[in-house]
Amino acid sequence: MRLFKLPFKNKKNHARLESTIQLDNIPKHIAIIMDGNGRWAQKQGLPRVAGHREGMDNVKRIVKAANHFKVEVLTLYAFSTENWKRPTQEVEYIMKLPIDFLQHYLPELIEENVRIQTIGEVNNLPKKTKSAIMRAIDETSNNTGLILNIAINYGSRFEMVRAIQDICRDVTDGKYDIDDITETALAEHLYTSHIKDPDLLIRTSGELRLSNFLLWQTAYTELWFTDTLWPDFSFEEFEKAINDFQNRKRRYGGI
Ligand code: FPP
Repeated sequence: MRLFKLPFKNKKNHARLESTIQLDNIPKHIAIIMDGNGRWAQKQGLPRVAGHREGMDNVKRIVKAANHFKVEVLTLYAFSTENWKRPTQEVEYIMKLPIDFLQHYLPELIEENVRIQTIGEVNNLPKKTKSAIMRAIDETSNNTGLILNIAINYGSRFEMVRAIQDICRDVTDGKYDIDDITETALAEHLYTSHIKDPDLLIRTSGELRLSNFLLWQTAYTELWFTDTLWPDFSFEEFEKAINDFQNRKRRYGGI
């Protein structure tokens, strides 16, 4: 078992956990539902958007952590197809976050060899949000390190409906036979066609549900929940989630 050298302030506490992290069993794809920004702000007596701002800063810390552990794909649920129901001001604020995030951190992400991708209906985003994201995708397209996959205007049910519509079109055009519609064929029509299913899904803030996130892709994903609100979710807790993952037995329906 190879061990990490970890750059922690509290070395004593980490020495214990460090010895249990197996470098050859790091989840390749981690998906996170970053929940609890609003409650974090409320606890501080701040407007909800201050929680989203803090949540955005935490994205940076957790991207660094994922890179540190050589995770291959980190999918972050930034905005769901249902989040449009929120007050206009809050939606507008969240839509500005990717612009701010990329303005501040893109050079560093490039330096860290991170590649940015998205899942969701990016075409329906506000123009400036879309162009900041498209620029980042373009500028990081040759990077070979961590894939930072931002789920934005993403809904799993819509993703599946869209995939089925695409397949039906191909059947109507005679390119596909009904009998060719297999699990693999459907997966190939999802936004995630090019990436492996998540090995580990983390949800912060004590809520125990998937909220229309990667419903197809999480069929055999290990789920990990914490009461910690997203802005407070730390490197150490990320490490704990990986450590717990490594103690799970994945049977995929076998024995
Ligand atoms: C859920 O918390 C959080 C969101 C809907 C927004 C998450 C967005 C970010 C953390 C910024 C992402 C930025 C980039 C660049 C990826 P909530 O508002 O539902 O919290 P609550 O349940 O406490 O109200």
